[in-house]
Amino acid sequence: MSDESHESNSPFVSILGNVFLVLVPLALIVMLGIVGAAFVKGVREEPVKPEEVVAAAAPVAAPAAEAAAPAEVAKTDAAAPAAKEAAAEAPAAAPEAKAAAIDPAVMAMGQASYAMCAACHGPDGAGLKAGPALMAPSFHGSETLLGDPDIPLLVVLKGIAKENMDYMGMMAPLGAGLDDEKLAAVLTYVRNSWGNSAPAVTAEQAAAARAKFAEVNAPAGVKRGELQAIVDAHK
Ligand code: HEC
Repeated sequence: MSDESHESNSPFVSILGNVFLVLVPLALIVMLGIVGAAFVKGVREEPVKPEEVVAAAAPVAAPAAEAAAPAEVAKTDAAAPAAKEAAAEAPAAAPEAKAAAIDPAVMAMGQASYAMCAACHGPDGAGLKAGPALMAPSFHGSETLLGDPDIPLLVVLKGIAKENMDYMGMMAPLGAGLDDEKLAAVLTYVRNSWGNSAPAVTAEQAAAARAKFAEVNAPAGVKRGELQAIVDAHK
């Protein structure tokens, strides 16, 4: 007997299930239609579908929609200050990007010419080791290298007189082996490698330096302590 009632229940339950399966999506579709119409034309009510369906679905779906809306608003509110911060950071980052924007072709040319410096200053610009000593000073963060470009230009064009015995090498005049473009490029390269960052040295600056320092009579190199005074005298 109970089996029979169970059997007779089953179709009823599955029909009920089917009705819900149809009604629930239908209610959602109606809700979406109403919400969509409200967005486009303002609130306009056209109860085309059975009122029961709309009424039954509304209390359930509406709070959900309301709950979703503030969440989205909160999201955009939270995102707005972040966007403002990013915008505020952009101008601060710009000068750095500008200083680092060196023509890659100039860097490549400078790197090629650097082969003649690497014998003493090392392939990594840290100064080549010669036993416990160095052949030449490190370029990393060198004030002599990274300031007024006329200083390193004078160094390469005239050399440095040997006074410092800490280094095994000697900074000889090397300008004869570099045209203006290569002289500028090699200095631009060392000023912008291994963490260094300084404005590019132009071929015009190199040509001007070659011309104005030509009269500097220092066959054994300029004394290190006189570099700045000579540069100042030729401004
Ligand atoms: C034969 C070794 C040798 C070679 C090659 C050489 N240098 Fe030097 N360089 C030195 C020595 C040694 C010093 C330090 C001189 C001193 O202070 O007495 C020096 C110093 C310098 C300095 C000053 C840096 C500082 O912080 O004191 C610059 C700039 C420089 N060299 C650039 C170059 C460039 C560019 C080349 C390649 C075109 C080059 N050198 C090739 C040995 C060399």
